Amino acid sequence: MKTIHDFKKYKEDNIPFTVLTAYDFHTARFVRDSDVDCVLVGDSVAQVVYGYPSTVHATVEMMARHTAIVRRVVSNKFIVVDMPFLSFRKSLDLALETVDQLVKAGADAVKIEGVEGHEKVIEHIVQSGVPVMAHLGLTPQSVLGFGGMRVQGKTNQEQQKIIADAKKCEELGCFSLVLECVPRHLASQITKQLSIPTIGIGAGIETSGQVLVIYDLLGFDQSFQPKFVKRFLNTEKDSIKAINQFCLEVKTKQYPSVEESY
Ligand code: KIV
Repeated sequence: MKTIHDFKKYKEDNIPFTVLTAYDFHTARFVRDSDVDCVLVGDSVAQVVYGYPSTVHATVEMMARHTAIVRRVVSNKFIVVDMPFLSFRKSLDLALETVDQLVKAGADAVKIEGVEGHEKVIEHIVQSGVPVMAHLGLTPQSVLGFGGMRVQGKTNQEQQKIIADAKKCEELGCFSLVLECVPRHLASQITKQLSIPTIGIGAGIETSGQVLVIYDLLGFDQSFQPKFVKRFLNTEKDSIKAINQFCLEVKTKQYPSVEESY
C-alpha cells in the first residue's frame, strides 16, 4: 500500500499519480483492482450516491458508513476521507471526534476544504498523527458562499490569496493539496512553489497528480459536463441501451432463452 511518502516521492521524481473516488462495494472493487494510486471517499457521495444537489448534505455518519464499506473491500490502497461540511468548524473537540470516527472506519488520512479560520484544527489533526490533505480553489462545500460553482483564482488578488493559502497548508503540515477549478498557470505556479504534492481537478496538467469522481470518469451522468471532465466510458448511454435491450427481448419472448433456463 502506498503511503504519504510515496506521494511525495512521485512529486520529487515528477511522476504523475492518480486519485479516484469510491463510495460503495462495487466502486471499491473497481478501484481496488485498478492501477489507481490513492482512493478518496469524497463528500461527493452526497451528490452521486444520494442525489443531493451539493456536498453540504454530507454528514459525518454518511462519511463513516461509506468509508467502512470501501475499507472492507480495499486493503491495498491509501484511503483519504472528506471531513464533511462544517464538521471541522464547530469546535476542536468535535473535529477530533470526527477524525476519530473516520480513522476507526478505515481512513488513512482526512481531507479538509479551505484553511482560513481553521488553521488550528488542521495543525492539531496533523500533530495528532493523522495526515491531512488540503483542498483549495473551488471548494464545493462553499458553494453557497461562492454563489455557484465557478472557476476560482481568475483575478490577481484571488490568485495571491490562493497562493498564500497553499503555503499556509504546507506550513501547517498537510501532506498534499487538491487544487480544484483554478487556471492551469496558477496550479503550475503553486506546484513549483510547494514541496508537498498538488492534485488537480480542473487545474491543468502541471499538478503532481490528478483526481476525478469515479462516476464522472465512467460517464454516469451525461448531463453533467464541466470542461475538465473527460469521460473514459459512456455508462449512462450504454446502461440505458442494455436495459432497453432487456425490455425488448422480454416483450419479444427472446429472453430467457433455453440456455438461460433450468
Ligand atoms: O468529494 C470529492 O469527490 C472531492 C473531489 C472532487 C476532489 O472532493
